[in-house]
Amino acid sequence: MTFDKIYQYNFPTTIRFGAGASKELPDYLVKNNLLNPLIVTDPTVAQLGFFKSIVSDLKKKGISGQIFSDIHKNPVKSDVYKGSDVYDQTGCDAIVGIGGGAALDVARAIVLRINHREDLFVYDDLVGGDVYVTNDVPHFVTLPTTAGTGSEVGRSAIISDDVTHQKKILFSPRLMAKIVFADPLLTMDLPPFITAATGMDALTHNMEAYLARMPHPLCEGIGLQGIALIHESLEHAVNRPDLESRSKMLIASLMGAVAFQKGLGVVHSLAHPLSSLLDTHHGLANAVNIPYGMEFNIQGFEHKFRQIARAFGLKDETGKAVVNYLFELNSRIQIPHKLSAIGVKPEHIEPLADLAFADFAHPNNPKPVSREDFKELYLRAL
Ligand SMILES: NC(=O)c1ccc[n+]([C@@H]2O[C@H](COP(=O)([O-])OP(=O)(O)OC[C@H]3O[C@@H](n4cnc5c(N)ncnc54)[C@H](O)[C@@H]3O)[C@@H](O)[C@H]2O)c1
Ligand SMILES: [Fe+2]
Repeated sequence: MTFDKIYQYNFPTTIRFGAGASKELPDYLVKNNLLNPLIVTDPTVAQLGFFKSIVSDLKKKGISGQIFSDIHKNPVKSDVYKGSDVYDQTGCDAIVGIGGGAALDVARAIVLRINHREDLFVYDDLVGGDVYVTNDVPHFVTLPTTAGTGSEVGRSAIISDDVTHQKKILFSPRLMAKIVFADPLLTMDLPPFITAATGMDALTHNMEAYLARMPHPLCEGIGLQGIALIHESLEHAVNRPDLESRSKMLIASLMGAVAFQKGLGVVHSLAHPLSSLLDTHHGLANAVNIPYGMEFNIQGFEHKFRQIARAFGLKDETGKAVVNYLFELNSRIQIPHKLSAIGVKPEHIEPLADLAFADFAHPNNPKPVSREDFKELYLRAL
């Protein structure tokens, strides 16, 4: 690790973590005189028991709130516009995001839109739009209900164009939540498939962050500990969930998102095009690609793979052993080893390789990745 210039390290917001933390939401809102929040969620979570009980607890404290759940699985710009219209029309005074990465992304994009009324994609970070995020934003609170993206502590939202499905990134430190209520009880009934896919997303964040180029010992420590926690809990959380495994996964997913301010890498660049082209769930796309992407990274970074092997508790501390562990973990949580099993066909490889090479994540990969490398990795995984 060389410190060749001055780096900036940013750490997140206040986190209230633990079983029952979501019960603190009503008092927090009352204390801050926020009595009409826009509650942003997705249509599935809106029907779940814990969500209804949060809304009823809010009502008991005199907090009316407007529920907005009309969002897509991979959120689009019009979802954000509809949500901000509800905020305006009903005179809301705060935004509470309750859900997985998709709902929290929409909530965060609405936070931006309230006082920034140019076309939403003017603020796209990939074209330098973050400099226009200069106004105040509404009070923002997040409650994660999946253990995956860690979006609750994030400062960006991924929103797609309604027509082209191109993904845009809205980014600003202003878009961080003021407080996170991370309650593992909200994740107890996550179905096994979602637990597995989102959990592998969290593992990918921790591993890619640990390996990413930027010298950042704080995030490297968090990433390694996140890897160890996922090793201890993901299989349990999928196959025989209990509060301990759910708690470890929830904190590890949050740690992954803290760690990846250091950067992501080749696996996320392999995964993103699968979502934009084939609508594959983000976590599943990472899960299938991670053994192949990590194998690509071993050479030259054997010392880092030794640390990862230790975090996985492996006797054999080689990169190869880490890759074998990832395949075995996928088997144990019912994730396929091949892209063909999730709908990828040989004719998809060329367009996927173009998109992966154009993706924003891989410039932080520990070693450079060419378009040819992406093609080869997809072919190997097919
Ligand atoms: N902002 C970021 O930095 C960032 C990073 C990666 C991914 N993302 C985005 O996050 C999204 C993926 O997020 P995700 O993996 O959390 O999935 P998700 O939000 O799409 O949720 C997956 C499914 O789980 C359901 N669900 C959520 N909580 C549940 C619960 N407690 N019990 C039962 N079902 C529940 C949802 O309704 C949904 O059907 C994508 O849209 C992706 O673009 C954002
Ligand atoms: Fe991710």
